[in-house]
Amino acid sequence: MSFSIIGKSIAESVTLKLNETAAILRAKGEPVIHLGGGEPKTKAPLDAIMAAAGLLNSGDIRYTPADGIPALKKAIIRFTLDTYGRLVAPENVIASGGAKQAIMVALQAILDPQDEVIFPAPYWVSYPEMVKLCGAVPVPVYPEDGTFYPRLQDIEQVCGPYTKAVIINSPNNPSGVVYSDQFISDIVEFCEEKGIYLIMDDIYHRLVFGGKKPANCFDYLKGSIDDSKLILVNGVSKQYAMTGFRIGWAVANKKLIEVMTNIQGHQTSGPSVVLQAAAVGAVNGIQSCVDSLCTTLENNTRVMMEQLNAFTGLGVTKPDGTFYCFVDFSNYNKNSTELALFLLDKVRVITVPGIEFGCDGYLRLSTCGSVKDITEGIERIKWAIDPNSPNELFIGERKLTRDWL
Ligand SMILES: Cc1ncc(COP(=O)(O)O)c(C=O)c1O
Repeated sequence: MSFSIIGKSIAESVTLKLNETAAILRAKGEPVIHLGGGEPKTKAPLDAIMAAAGLLNSGDIRYTPADGIPALKKAIIRFTLDTYGRLVAPENVIASGGAKQAIMVALQAILDPQDEVIFPAPYWVSYPEMVKLCGAVPVPVYPEDGTFYPRLQDIEQVCGPYTKAVIINSPNNPSGVVYSDQFISDIVEFCEEKGIYLIMDDIYHRLVFGGKKPANCFDYLKGSIDDSKLILVNGVSKQYAMTGFRIGWAVANKKLIEVMTNIQGHQTSGPSVVLQAAAVGAVNGIQSCVDSLCTTLENNTRVMMEQLNAFTGLGVTKPDGTFYCFVDFSNYNKNSTELALFLLDKVRVITVPGIEFGCDGYLRLSTCGSVKDITEGIERIKWAIDPNSPNELFIGERKLTRDWL
């Protein structure tokens, strides 16, 4: 059978695959702890459910404009004003099937084959594949100082004549760190000067701990949005725990939004009207759900940190937000895929191998689950790889005896 060159070059989504594996094992009654998840466990806000249910009850479920229904655009405009202090026009906004599609159509709108897209490592698993889907070249960049905090010189070093765009994701998946105001200011200025696109993937923007606020890219933009190549991406998935609703959006200059709309119109049409109604409900509704999710995640992260800090030989960077910790396990195994498979096999803990985010030797651990899951999950990992832990472990009624260290 023959497939396209691009089709063959695209890897499976590891994170989605892990969800599937966890579900299959659970269905078989296996005591799985899923520390690989990328979605909060809280319920979708009632405002979202009521809005979607109201529309469903009407039975009047139709196609939508390719760039989203006016009510959602209005809600996104208000969100952008409240969150970023920037008033944009409806023509600056496109609603898509998740932030994922918003990024994808943005890339399809701006990239030609062989163009290059720079993004700091560790990076979200989908960026390289999305860039490749456009026939373009992903250029991950590793902060030279070995931290998770890129500096402008890291980006400058790999920026060349083929560079078309930079993608910045802060708060960052998988590291949980928030990039400094200085870096965001530098990168906005740099991209403006070079005339290259800057995609700010702000999907975790409101999930920051300790009452801190991540940098607002608009604060550093010199010109108006219509004169700029800044593309701001956000969505309902993470902040409102609405991953399954698949609504995200992009805010950018009108010309680009028009091109993105043309692409999306032929690709999927506008997102489902029911799910857009739900997103309107969430964005316009009571916002305390975001604060309480943030508090839960902060507490879970504190528990995860306590557990990890009591575990010798790990390299741990404290997350400033999101629901991930990206931990250096290379003292135990430099091959993260091997380690993740080993942990699944021996102690039924799901983690995501760091190699998927561009950093082998690391595992991404999620704080989306319960405190019990986090505590027990880390205990199981410790037991499996730390020779100083006792030889036996109970998982429920099941007694495991370690015979591999
Ligand atoms: C950094 C980042 N960007 C975008 C997305 C996609 O979000 P959505 O569910 O809105 O497509 C994710 C989801 O995991 C993510 O981690």
